[in-house]
Amino acid sequence: MKRYQYGNVIATDAVVEPVEAATGELKEFSVKKTEGAIVFTYEMDKETAVYGLGEQVRGINKRGWKYVSDCADDPVHSEEKHSLYASHNFLVVDGKERFGVFFDTPAKVVFDIGYTKSNVMEITTDTDVDVYIVEGSSLLEIVKKFRHAIGKSFIAPIWAFGYQQSRWGYMNESDIRTVVDRYDEIDIPLDTVYLDIDYMERFKDFTVDKERFPDLKGLSDELKKDNIRLIPIIDAGVKIEDGYDIYEEGVEKGYFCKEADGENFVGAVWPGKVHFPDFCNKEAREWFGHKYKVLTDMGMEGFWNDMNEPAIFYSEKGLNEALDFFQTIEDRNLGVYDFFKLGDVLNGVKNSPKDYSSFYHNIDGKQICHDKVHNIYGYMMTRAAGEAFEDLRPEKRTLMFSRASYIGAHRYGGVWMGDNMSWWSHILLHLKMMPSLNMCGFMYMGADMGGFGTHCTEDLMLRWVALGIFTPLMRNHSALGTREQEFYQFENIAAFRNMTKFRYRLIPYLYSEYMKAVLNDEMMYIPFAFAYPDDKQAKHIEDQLLVGDSLMIAPVYEQNATGRTVYLPEEMILVRLTKDGELLTKVLDKGYHYVEVDIEEVVFYIRKGKVLPLCETAKRVAELDFENLAFIGYTEGGSYQYYMDDGVSKDYDLNKYVTKIMV
Ligand code: GLC
Repeated sequence: MKRYQYGNVIATDAVVEPVEAATGELKEFSVKKTEGAIVFTYEMDKETAVYGLGEQVRGINKRGWKYVSDCADDPVHSEEKHSLYASHNFLVVDGKERFGVFFDTPAKVVFDIGYTKSNVMEITTDTDVDVYIVEGSSLLEIVKKFRHAIGKSFIAPIWAFGYQQSRWGYMNESDIRTVVDRYDEIDIPLDTVYLDIDYMERFKDFTVDKERFPDLKGLSDELKKDNIRLIPIIDAGVKIEDGYDIYEEGVEKGYFCKEADGENFVGAVWPGKVHFPDFCNKEAREWFGHKYKVLTDMGMEGFWNDMNEPAIFYSEKGLNEALDFFQTIEDRNLGVYDFFKLGDVLNGVKNSPKDYSSFYHNIDGKQICHDKVHNIYGYMMTRAAGEAFEDLRPEKRTLMFSRASYIGAHRYGGVWMGDNMSWWSHILLHLKMMPSLNMCGFMYMGADMGGFGTHCTEDLMLRWVALGIFTPLMRNHSALGTREQEFYQFENIAAFRNMTKFRYRLIPYLYSEYMKAVLNDEMMYIPFAFAYPDDKQAKHIEDQLLVGDSLMIAPVYEQNATGRTVYLPEEMILVRLTKDGELLTKVLDKGYHYVEVDIEEVVFYIRKGKVLPLCETAKRVAELDFENLAFIGYTEGGSYQYYMDDGVSKDYDLNKYVTKIMV
């Protein structure tokens, strides 16, 4: 890997392997420094594909759009957007040349990949940047080298591969018990229930509302006896409230972000007015991270970090400016342009760039404006937690995932894809983001099945679950005010039961492939273009993926579809999980096939010569028997490299825990 230095970039600690600065010219790009900006230009030929960018909109091949790394709290993940919650500045170029490139800066970067001019890729940043070039003979090798350089990905506990239920709106202990009881009643496996912001007292981090959760530790202990874990949310903003210890300590120690004059910056999020911990300051990070102890002491073994782009609903200044604008509207008779202006002013109050440029961090004693380090704020929050867990729970893995992230955060936690919608197109977006996230180091990840915003239908949830059973994080989460979407809210409970029970049978395989991929710095979700680079048709398939070494998935993602066309780059065995839980198999030749997939079924494929290990299903991950496996697929003379450790301690080791099982 080569590093080209442009100015003196603020360290992100994304890359952990030491790489000396190269002396020569960057040959892959032409570089132009203009007033205040550096522009990297690359000419693409017709066939060039560009992969990467992790959590982003659109395809696996990113060509044809403008993407902006600028962590955004935006719940509408539609095609015309340029930014989502994360900034993952790694690309893999596959054309006349093949190379990986990482633009390492904590500030905004614009990736115009054939948007302005179809054959030109132009990457622009207005700050200093380190550019890393990764060489390799194949796309997979380039990713592997990059992944090695950014350090080993976060390893989740094995129970995090169980089915997880969440909803913004579980208000009290009784709501949580209802979820657990209902899943038990309908005999659907479950491993965790999430605590969204309503477990807190007035949305204050590391507090518990005593009225609604009188004995959270007792509840957690009781549920844990049944192998159910509670996963609380932690938000970035700290409520301003006299007598609230975190707020008072933060003020006293100077651990919050400050305005230019030294006053603590005030923004508003769920709790109303908050200060933002300065996660870029090592001491503040240590301080905040150790606050998770309040909850680990209550038995919590997992967390999700939220609102850490950071989301700012409004700042006092921004709100006042908007209110001033209203004063200027005299007769309330708005012309159409005034009306648009009004909309812009109102919308502009939230997550305003003006606010992001009005507060500062203390980085090694230097005052740095937030907009210079915006993209690592969420990463540093996750790092704060991850580093503290080393201290608080040194022996055990702690589940952690975040909404905002930057490359580097993958060492401390996973990600979920934020506030998606109950849209059919978001099944596909979920699928497409997985390999891109893997390229950038994020291995434990998933989207809210069924969609977070808007109203979910039974058929959407069934099709989504048919994909979700193959993803590391299999979580059903939804927003306040939307139609309830726990599996027991639907009519066809049998179909949800069948699919979820099958997920538990897949866990030995999913976990084994996940661990091997993490420990070998490899991808688990592999696009066809990476796996079959010489197959011209395969290269363009973006709605099918390899999952680990043995499986291929091709989910149905269109409403009322009764099947779909599938392309097989090689002979494969089609496996049909019928609605009765049977597994029917059939060998299919290389090429195109139309495959019927009933709404109650799951269809997937086993690659030529490969086998799939399955265990018996169980109610909880802890009850699975990982020793007694059945194998399906190309069983004659087949073998499987099976990784299995205890799933919870930090004793993970390929040499120790991989066994070759002859089938
Ligand atoms: C944010 C999160 C969402 C959560 C909500 C309330 O929108 O992305 O998952 O439910 O906040 O905490």
